[in-house]
Parts: sequence; C-alpha cells; structure tokens
Amino acid sequence: MRKVALIGFMGSGKSSVAPLLATALGYRLVDVDSEIISRSGLPSIRDIFSARGEPFFRDLEAAVAESLTDTAHVVVSTGGGIIGRHTNIEHLRMNGGAIIFLRTRFETVTARISDFASRPLFRDIDRARTLYAERQQLYKEYADLVVDTDDKTPGQVCDEIVATLGTLS
Ligand code: S3P
Repeated sequence: MRKVALIGFMGSGKSSVAPLLATALGYRLVDVDSEIISRSGLPSIRDIFSARGEPFFRDLEAAVAESLTDTAHVVVSTGGGIIGRHTNIEHLRMNGGAIIFLRTRFETVTARISDFASRPLFRDIDRARTLYAERQQLYKEYADLVVDTDDKTPGQVCDEIVATLGTLS
C-alpha cells in the first residue's frame, strides 16, 4: 500500500492511531483537519465553522483530499465527515490508497471525546447520534478494511492494521 487513509466517526481514534501507523510504516503523516486549518487562515475548526460556515469547511476538506491524489507513502488522518463527498474517497484511493474504517460504538465515542466544544458537530448529543447512524453504512461501504476499536488502545489498533495491510495489496 502506498497510501493509507483512516476514516471513521469523531472519537474513533484516527488522530491517535495515524501517527503510530505512520511511524510503523515509515510513512509521512497528513492530518486533514490540520491542513484545513492552515489553508483557512483561521485558528481552529470551531472558528472556521462559526466564521465561514460548514460549506466553506467542506470545500477546503475536498481541496485537501484532492491534493493527496498523487501522494505516496503517506498515512492520512481524515475528519469524520470526509465521506460526505464521494470524490474525496476517490482521491484518497488513487495511487494505491487503502481506506481503513475505524469502527467504534457510539457509547465509546462519547466516552473518548473530552473536547466537545472544539467539534461543532458534536455539541448536541442527539444530533451527533443521528449523524453517527447516518454515516455508518457509508464508512463501511468505502472501507477496504474495517477495524473495531472499542476496548483497544491506539497501539493495538495500529498493530492490527499493520498485520492486515499485507493481505490487502
Ligand atoms: C467532523 C469531524 C471533525 C472535523 C469537523 C467535522 C465531522 O474531525 O473534521 O469538526 O463532520 O465528523 P474528527 O473526526 O477528527 O473529530
């Protein structure tokens, strides 16, 4: 695999697992949310949503995904909404990319997230639950590999991915 993209809901562990995976594979780490922030000229995701709105955020997210089309030897940590546009996944998949879904129960997600304020789409728990339910099928459909993360440390999830990656190529 030349490129590995982690997808999954907020709190599924993408940002914790991705650096470990990048180190294990000797790949560069790209964090889509961080790239969006640096392209936006604003200090945080919360500021992007409040000052410019979600469509602006999604356009930047799509531009970052597109910029990764030809990259190789990268681990990409995505934001939970990357699956909202089919073309994002196409761009991540190009050039030998594998899509890995970190599947996590909603109860685990809420237990893991400590900074609700920094996640504009997790302010209202009922809306977050609905969003979670709407997205699960899409994550699964796009995934080349599904890894359950409940009750596992980021290191365990990383080891599981490394052990399975060889079987995907
Ligand atoms: C979002 C998830 C966030 C961030 C933004 C939108 C979403 O990333 O991209 O708040 O739509 O699920 P994480 O999944 O890393 O929290």
